Amino acid sequence: MEIRTDILLGDSKKVLRTLPDDSVDLIFTSPPYADQRKNTYGGIHPDRYVDWFLPISEELKRVLRPSGTFILNIKEKVVNGERSIYVMELILEMRRQQGWLWTEEFIWHKKNCYPGKWPNRFRDSWERLIQFNKNHHFTMYQEAVMVPMGDWSKKRLKKLSETDMLRDESKVGSGFGKNISNWLTREMAYPTNVLHLATECNNKNHSAAFPEGLPEWFIRLFTKEGDTVLDPFMGSGTTNAVAQRMKRNSIGIEILPEYCKMVENELRPVELYLLENKDSYAPTEPQLCIDLR
Ligand SMILES: C[S@@+](CC[C@H](N)C(=O)[O-])C[C@H]1O[C@@H](n2cnc3c(N)ncnc32)[C@H](O)[C@@H]1O
Repeated sequence: MEIRTDILLGDSKKVLRTLPDDSVDLIFTSPPYADQRKNTYGGIHPDRYVDWFLPISEELKRVLRPSGTFILNIKEKVVNGERSIYVMELILEMRRQQGWLWTEEFIWHKKNCYPGKWPNRFRDSWERLIQFNKNHHFTMYQEAVMVPMGDWSKKRLKKLSETDMLRDESKVGSGFGKNISNWLTREMAYPTNVLHLATECNNKNHSAAFPEGLPEWFIRLFTKEGDTVLDPFMGSGTTNAVAQRMKRNSIGIEILPEYCKMVENELRPVELYLLENKDSYAPTEPQLCIDLR
């Protein structure tokens, strides 16, 4: 199996036009936030953000496979003591104008955010990851992100009430009631939509790099080996580095040449993996065979 990592220099709005329709399984990205980090790679005013982003999301919709997922890591800043509303406007316009489905929202809880005091709010320790899809039926490997039941199963499940032992029918009549006793003997459970991860900027040459665990979790959830992941705002290439390690093809687009060069120097453009013959002792995982670079 050949795994490719393509690093493309330029403005996503234009470069995306060179990618084929329906060719990407997962788009995972963190674009520049409105008006932030002006000195590093230019800010877009919150009032112009939606107009700036829509031509890009139009192209993203074209290149995403019908079964694919788009995860957008974004958080509105505070302007004049009030949260900007450009993220909400963006979601509305992506739905209205482009037909994206806003399927889910995940929270990245930043475990190590700086302590501080503000007169009218507390420290901001989370960012959102908004999930968009083209269709209601999309590919999702839920078993790939299961977590150990841990203490919950030991403590909570040992004290089950009678209602817990019966099926607790949903109050809204959806039919999706829970029967907690079903989980009594299980070792693993499905995770929540909150991810607890520390930021990791210190060892990356980028001021807004996200931790590797973030793309890793979503790549695990929405793709399998050999699939293709796209980050249209690549930065230091965290998404691509993780995708390569997880044996996914990836494409990174970045407007600043210095980041492109840095990522090109760090990542291998092509790797070949061979699936070994299955004798009784052979490992089933693909093994790295030749590095072409
Ligand atoms: C928030 S950073 C991404 C950081 C990345 N997730 C990482 O882990 O390093 C956004 C990146 O998008 C790049 N960028 C800004 N506008 C762009 C555009 N129109 N096309 C491509 N890249 C762009 C910036 O130079 C910046 O490196």
